[in-house]
Amino acid sequence: MTPSVLFVCLGNICRSPLAEVAMREEARRVGLEVVIDSAGTGNWHAGEPPDPRAQAVAQKNGVDASALRARQVTRGDFTRFTHIVAMDADNLANLRRLAPTNATAELSLLLDHVPRREGQSVVDPYFGDDDGFDVTWADAVAGARGLIQTLRASG
Ligand code: 4NP
Repeated sequence: MTPSVLFVCLGNICRSPLAEVAMREEARRVGLEVVIDSAGTGNWHAGEPPDPRAQAVAQKNGVDASALRARQVTRGDFTRFTHIVAMDADNLANLRRLAPTNATAELSLLLDHVPRREGQSVVDPYFGDDDGFDVTWADAVAGARGLIQTLRASG
């Protein structure tokens, strides 16, 4: 079965869109077939493109994130995706609360897939300066690479 991954943060305009495009790029690079999407636990930014700083860091790293549009997580996501990957511990706690009883998706933190970074959160760059987005990008790429290893090990 083709794996499917939903990346989740709070607003779906900074961290999870970067994880989404980093994962697309890494999966393409290694030839892994995987369905990829992202969403936010909150709905304040629904319908919006990624934060301009997130678009800029993606662009700087050769990836276009401009076409993405934010959406909120739905209960249906818990059965539509095989994996739901949260950016931070708060997102993960909220996902566990939202999960319907018939949920089948496996929940984890992005950095659980990176050796020696298990349990760590991707820092929210929204209220910080531009440099924070370079950190987010590095975490997104490391997480994507690790997640590919996880998917290969379980597939
Ligand atoms: P994200 O960042 O969860 O990585 O998309 C945030 C975006 C918006 C807000 C907070 C975090 N906000 O408070 O609007």
